[in-house]
Amino acid sequence: MIEPSALHDTKHAYDAVASLYAELFSDVLEALPLERGLLAAFAELVQAHNAGPVADIGCGPGHVTAYMHALGPTTFGIDLSSEMVALARQAHPDLRFDEGSMTALDLADGVLGGILALYSTIHTPPRHLPIVFAEFQRVLAPGGHLLIGFFAGDDPLPQEFDHKVTLAYRWSPDSLMDLLRQAGFAEIGRLRREPRDGERFHQAHLLVRKP
Ligand SMILES: C[S@@+](CC[C@H](N)C(=O)[O-])C[C@H]1O[C@@H](n2cnc3c(N)ncnc32)[C@H](O)[C@@H]1O
Repeated sequence: MIEPSALHDTKHAYDAVASLYAELFSDVLEALPLERGLLAAFAELVQAHNAGPVADIGCGPGHVTAYMHALGPTTFGIDLSSEMVALARQAHPDLRFDEGSMTALDLADGVLGGILALYSTIHTPPRHLPIVFAEFQRVLAPGGHLLIGFFAGDDPLPQEFDHKVTLAYRWSPDSLMDLLRQAGFAEIGRLRREPRDGERFHQAHLLVRKP
């Protein structure tokens, strides 16, 4: 059972910073060649499997949603924050953006070919992540892909930290992969890179698929 207060706090924290977040991060992919490479690989895998659209879950202002859509797979965004959804719709009027939570997605079983969850599970209390990963499994078609991005650490247990927007957790890639495996995902590959100027932690991505 998800405590509604955790979602409520995250939603309001992102509503309050949505414009600033959009200003700071909407062009960030231009400076991230490794992430662009991963997104291209994800797009290629999703298109080769042709099992349905991509949902960018926790899409923020929609910059990655638009980037993925331009790579080929039909992509739409979902976010908890109504302010983020409003900004995403404004910036990308041709794309679909819905308000919603990854803890209880308003999507039928097996309808997605891919899920992007980029730095959007970082605020989810670790004990709630199995609920989120079960939702991701439910809405993905067999063979569907998930790319998850997060702040990395070395401790096998998730470490709470004072993220600028609201409390967040960083994970060792091995520990997060264990949790994804328990939810039924199989690993395809992973990226861990050094922090850039202004970043506090290593950044990690796991690319997995639903068998
Ligand atoms: C750090 S931002 C990342 C935004 C974007 N994915 C990016 O990479 O820039 C986290 C986003 O996840 C959203 N989010 C957090 N918890 C969520 C939930 N339970 N369901 C849907 N979105 C959520 C927040 O509202 C916020 O827009």
